Amino acid sequence: MLAIVLIYSDLTDETKRSIPASEINCSSLSQNSEYSPLIRNEQRVRRIPQAIIIGSRKSGTRALLKFLEVNPAIRAAHSEVHFFDRPQNYKLGYDWYRSQMPESYSHEVTIEKSPAYFVTPDVPEKVKAMNSSIKLVLIFRNPVVRLISDFSQIVANRMESPDDEDDVGGDYGGIAVSERLEEQEANMKNGSSSDSTSKSLWDKAEADFSDYVLRLDGGIDEQRRAVKIGMYSNYLERWRALFPMNQFHFVDGENLISNPYEELNKLELFLGLKSVIRKEDFVFNAKKGFFCLVSGLDRPQDLVTQYHNAGLGAKQARPDFGTPNCLSRSKGRRHVKVKKELLEELKKFYEPYNEYLYSLVGHNFNWSSINL
Ligand code: A3P
Repeated sequence: MLAIVLIYSDLTDETKRSIPASEINCSSLSQNSEYSPLIRNEQRVRRIPQAIIIGSRKSGTRALLKFLEVNPAIRAAHSEVHFFDRPQNYKLGYDWYRSQMPESYSHEVTIEKSPAYFVTPDVPEKVKAMNSSIKLVLIFRNPVVRLISDFSQIVANRMESPDDEDDVGGDYGGIAVSERLEEQEANMKNGSSSDSTSKSLWDKAEADFSDYVLRLDGGIDEQRRAVKIGMYSNYLERWRALFPMNQFHFVDGENLISNPYEELNKLELFLGLKSVIRKEDFVFNAKKGFFCLVSGLDRPQDLVTQYHNAGLGAKQARPDFGTPNCLSRSKGRRHVKVKKELLEELKKFYEPYNEYLYSLVGHNFNWSSINL
């Protein structure tokens, strides 16, 4: 009880008015689990998230959230909320933020993901002002691959209408594409779009990528926003200055791709949940080249709710039928080709930041050993 009082006292007066202590308190979360019959007497309500996936962009944030939802105690906001990073949303206040969340029982964990939080100035302060005990989840991927992924998204979106479930209508990390790419885009809009146009657009993208990441003197341009995002340790320092390390959890983005359940089990534990996500919940889809969910259902919780209402245990609700449920085509897409020498330069550029990151998080992601 003392812990709750202390945490609550960290909040601003305005926050106290809009967020009850019961919403802030994470300690009661989930330990009694979704199997408690008591919850049948409780109404689901919208709550401020007890955990946020704050980044990093293009590292597997969508896969992480979608896969985490296999755990029936997870209640996730499906779109990126952008509460703390967009002033027009932030000024709407905590009630608006809460209204973006799905309804949940008190033992469940409400979570959202907005990867822009990690790199946007002032966001750590705003998050702390709301809830200083919030759990912060970060997923990191080899920064060179992340950068290529970020750039490839622009190229892809210029060839087809954007379908990225996270980035439609958003900015693409401030990446400016070259005039040549813009010209080709205009041709496509004028009706001259063809397979050969999109092929050449991809071919040209190799040069555009070099133009983007290299300064005129040949060095890596660290002023480029997409280059900067991969200097993870710079941003982590800002967060670490305000939150203790035990409030962070770091997901290995490469391991999420090859062993999703391993990373999800660790995350479940961090969130104070029972580890219920199993290896069998995933199936490798050769066409997609990634693991997908076995469940054909978009929201396993909906089925779980039906079981709760019928007085049955959540365990029985685990859907084990249906077709593989993969992420949208904008996740796991084609990458721009990058010359070996430039890859090596980028690797070298990120090395000191990576090493420092490993020391901060106490885990070696081993990115130097990845063959690009
Ligand atoms: P690419 O599309 O460049 O391969 P985010 O969701 O943060 O935007 O990250 C997108 C990245 O998630 C994808 O980048 C992809 O590599 C990665 N990812 C991880 N697991 C995935 C999965 N099971 N299906 C699709 N993409 C996955």
